[in-house]
Amino acid sequence: MGPTVHRIVFLGPPGVGKGTQAAILAKELGIPHLSTGDLLRAAVATRTPLGLEAKGHMDAGRLVPDDLVLRILRERLAAPDAQAGFLLDGYPRNLAQARQLEAIAPVETVLAFELPARRLIERLSGRRVCPTCQSVYNVASRPPKVPGRCDRDGTELVQRPDDRPEAISTRLSVYAEQTAPLLDHYRRAGRLQPVDATGSPDEVAARVRAAVR
Ligand code: AP5
Repeated sequence: MGPTVHRIVFLGPPGVGKGTQAAILAKELGIPHLSTGDLLRAAVATRTPLGLEAKGHMDAGRLVPDDLVLRILRERLAAPDAQAGFLLDGYPRNLAQARQLEAIAPVETVLAFELPARRLIERLSGRRVCPTCQSVYNVASRPPKVPGRCDRDGTELVQRPDDRPEAISTRLSVYAEQTAPLLDHYRRAGRLQPVDATGSPDEVAARVRAAVR
């Protein structure tokens, strides 16, 4: 028998901690962490045509059109390191994307992270990121050693444009309307594993490990 191929999706509302947990689990399983949000933000930062088209949607908290996201995802999934498995964070986000994914690379496990809305808002509004190395902090739960500066390279931390209050509220509505129906979709397919996202990152990581075992 060959090595286990893990094809995992992290599903859940904005700010639930998908990126934080995906980084931990991907490292433990030795598979790449593919975040469509990170791929899109890199395209925005390098001002590619796709990034320029995506930026307005992202800053406002709306989904980027399916064809643009699919283009960037296909390219990433074709890379050699994704052939032995991957952890997808932030894709799919609607039923059309779920069908597209099924056609390219069917996934076996979907972890659905759950957290009350007021906690999501706290986590999102407290998030700060390093524009140089992309490290993620939180003023309440994961503060940098020197306030406002990245621990790794000292760069001044910034707030993501879509972590402003108006964009947060749009993102939560978009999640409820377009992404939450995927919970039923994957539950009916027998692939959904709910994960309680309350508590510290270590506590959540232990639940994630138990769910993929
Ligand atoms: P994306 O980057 O995917 O954003 P998101 O889904 O809204 O998720 P977030 O990154 O906000 O949160 P997270 O769950 O990863 O939480 P994190 O670990 O950072 O997408 C951004 C945009 O790109 C979309 O709005 C859309 O425009 C576009 N896009 C992306 N994919 C797309 C697609 N497939 N189709 C169309 N458009 C797409 O944690 C949040 C904060 O909480 C951090 O500060 C962290 O330190 C803290 N934290 C984490 N865990 C804990 C804990 N256990 N306790 C306390 N604090 C915690």
